[in-house]
Amino acid sequence: MTDADSMTDYDALLQQHQAFKAQNLNLNMERGQPADANFDLSLPILSAVHEGNYITDNGIDIRNYPGGVLGLAEARELFCEQLNVGADELIMGNNSSLELMSRFLTWALLRGVKNSDGGWYNDSPKLIVAVPGYDRHFLLARELGFELLTVDMTINGPDMDAVEKLVANDASVKGIYFVPTYSNPTGDTISQKYAERLVNIKAAAADFTIFADDAYSVHHLDDSPPTAPNLLQIGKDSGNQDRVILFGSTSKVTFASGGLGLAGMSVDNIKYWSKALSAQTIGPNKAEQWRHVLFLRDYPNGLRGLMQEHAKILKPKFDKVQEILNRELGNLNLATWTDPRGGYFVSLDTAQPIASRVVELAKEAGLALTPTGATFPDGVDPSDRNIRLAPTRPPVEEVETAMEIVACCIKLAAAEMTQAKG
Ligand SMILES: Cc1ncc(COP(=O)(O)O)c(C=O)c1O
Repeated sequence: MTDADSMTDYDALLQQHQAFKAQNLNLNMERGQPADANFDLSLPILSAVHEGNYITDNGIDIRNYPGGVLGLAEARELFCEQLNVGADELIMGNNSSLELMSRFLTWALLRGVKNSDGGWYNDSPKLIVAVPGYDRHFLLARELGFELLTVDMTINGPDMDAVEKLVANDASVKGIYFVPTYSNPTGDTISQKYAERLVNIKAAAADFTIFADDAYSVHHLDDSPPTAPNLLQIGKDSGNQDRVILFGSTSKVTFASGGLGLAGMSVDNIKYWSKALSAQTIGPNKAEQWRHVLFLRDYPNGLRGLMQEHAKILKPKFDKVQEILNRELGNLNLATWTDPRGGYFVSLDTAQPIASRVVELAKEAGLALTPTGATFPDGVDPSDRNIRLAPTRPPVEEVETAMEIVACCIKLAAAEMTQAKG
């Protein structure tokens, strides 16, 4: 390309950007929220429990204390499918997985996990996190005082060569905190091989723990989803089952922050953690659990059927993201991006260190994107290349415009760089 060509290009891109600005758009692809159409699928929950049905099948009165700290048996039976564990391997918590994860991590710090000699706080504890990753994991762990060690998220899961090196000789590396299925933001799922390496890892810490936030375990976009590795089963096969703690929730199944948290683990871990939870609460919200049970067991094909309805709403949005990115950036070597088969995000990496400029330009054009750096601890992307795209909440027409803005801003930011160099 000659200087004159690149100047023409630059001017055309500026004009395109200006044209978006002139529309006074107010688009948002910042956070992974369900759309109202997704929430509408679960509206019957709001009337599932009423004056006539507050006694569960097992005779528990949801108005009173008795019921147990692990949750209603009917709920454990129904939701164990979500984490691919047995009903006796599941704890039903309150409204969100983050709340459960913060309880588990806090308890680990103060008192330790099942195989600990005591609380981790004395050991200057470290957690491994995969990057790019989920900002709230980083925030929670950092606020609790963990030092975070980053490894790359690969298409097979956290870079296991790096993880093995980090845990081999340092007993203060207490665990790994990551998303095993359709990771936030890359959409990658840990491979069977990596899952086996992780669960059976040789760690200096006897109480090394895998905090696997399986937030998207059932959030497939495809009709024939790949089978994700079963971390707990791998642990059971090798005697390492107490290392694995799985988390999930119904936030993107029914109502976000308005449903149930789930934690899956070995039966021995259930004993350890139920004692810990019993010290903190008499039990979780049974009314919420009961109405989820009543709603979901009557849903055609249950949890699977409901998730297929979600996918029908979400898939066209993810397809639109790919369509526009391929059309606008396909041959330009300006960016690479993931094409997930499930989950809530697409991860895009710019070829040059221009991600924060892209987000800035998008904001000027009326599109809010996830702030750059959010996918790295402390909000700093060392290479300024990663952008998390969250296409689930806006309608598909808005996703289309938003992605056209993203593509325009990537081209413009790259052209600015060429101009600056030239
Ligand atoms: C990986 C991951 N975990 C947890 C959450 C939040 O889940 P909850 O509402 O259950 O706290 C999200 C939300 O985006 C997420 O992406």
